[in-house]
Amino acid sequence: MAKIVVIIGSQWGDEGKGKIVDNLAEQADIVARFGGGANAGHTISLKGEEYKLRLIPSGILYSEKLCVIGNGVVLDPQCIIEEMDALKARGLDISNIRISNRAHVVLPYHKLFDNLSEQLRGAKKIGTTGRGISPCYIDRDDRIGIRVCDFIDKEEFASRLKDVLAQKNLILEKVYNQPPLDYEKILREYEGYAERLKPYVCDTIALLNEQIDAGKKILFEGAQATMLDIDYGTYPYVTASHPVSGGVCVGAGVAPKKIDAVVGVVKAYCTRVGEGPFPTEQLNDIGEKIRAVGHEFGTVTGRPRRTGWLDACIVKYAGQISGIDYMAVTRLDILDDFDEIKMCVGYKLNGEIINEVPASLKIFAQVEPIYENFAGWKTDISGIREYEKLPANARKYLERMSEVTRIDLGIVSVGPNRDQTIVVKNIF
Ligand code: IMP
Repeated sequence: MAKIVVIIGSQWGDEGKGKIVDNLAEQADIVARFGGGANAGHTISLKGEEYKLRLIPSGILYSEKLCVIGNGVVLDPQCIIEEMDALKARGLDISNIRISNRAHVVLPYHKLFDNLSEQLRGAKKIGTTGRGISPCYIDRDDRIGIRVCDFIDKEEFASRLKDVLAQKNLILEKVYNQPPLDYEKILREYEGYAERLKPYVCDTIALLNEQIDAGKKILFEGAQATMLDIDYGTYPYVTASHPVSGGVCVGAGVAPKKIDAVVGVVKAYCTRVGEGPFPTEQLNDIGEKIRAVGHEFGTVTGRPRRTGWLDACIVKYAGQISGIDYMAVTRLDILDDFDEIKMCVGYKLNGEIINEVPASLKIFAQVEPIYENFAGWKTDISGIREYEKLPANARKYLERMSEVTRIDLGIVSVGPNRDQTIVVKNIF
């Protein structure tokens, strides 16, 4: 039986990871995040109520689970406090949150630079969420970031902020022609946030490893997805972190050999927000229908998502990179009313079949998907709870997906609620 399980997105994000995490969190002792920041947006439906989470792990909906924010996360203090207050106001216990003392802090200039550099890119913009994610990781790598351990130390924070802001203000004024940011104002506001967050801060690396040694079950909750990974995704249209299973090792301080199982969440069709190639995109009535039925609009930005057929090639690629053991297929019910469903099982480039996901975006934008057609099941599957009871056409679609991607089926989700889940394989 697995004890340390990682959940990752296998496409371009928004696969419905929140619901799968929530489902598996029930059996875990700890739910932990290892990368990304407030750019993530997980929506979970519970007893008819919707919870939108950005930074706090989805395990927060269970009162007894420890919810860990690992060192690889970039922490926006304002955002997490808002989220904590909102959950508290709805009667949830937030005392089990633990924040890594090594995580980097998102400060106002990160958000500002995120938006300014997008403006500078003009038509070549990445389409970021504007949450300051990449500028915060840039500062980490440039070794001018401010970590949580320094943020909650009043003197350290005041001195580090002064130095960094002097540099940032120079860039703001001389490069972007913008007014400088006010040191005192940021210091006062953020000192207040630091005081509020202090009780939740600890060494999460020690905590997680002690819990592993004690035989506890840990669920690592990925944000974003493989095709948005800074190295493996459609660079430069990617995020700045590593949302693959290896991200757990560097973003939480847990060794690779400790990971027992990796679950890849796969939406039954495909979406992406922001710019970049998307071979199976449907800029037609089919795409519109998927968007309308699936309510495909961004959780964080509200932007309409781009929609298309399932691309099994990228899922296979995600499987290779992360060693995905099981697929959790989500939103299968959104396809209930289609006469015909297509799945991309390969790519052609200049008439030749290619076996890999191209690194070059120029080439990736030129590939032609090789589709297989599936007859729709034209049945409401949202009430089905056993795999064998799914319509034969739905099973055919899932089984072919598993065959092409070479990943076993673990879970099938047929609706947003906790109980609308078919467990094919017990993961924990
Ligand atoms: P950033 O992470 O805000 O820098 O945005 C970089 C790219 O990743 C953009 O295309 C975003 O739309 C995309 N992105 C970031 N977070 C998510 C997410 O949680 N779901 C889907 N796309 C995301």
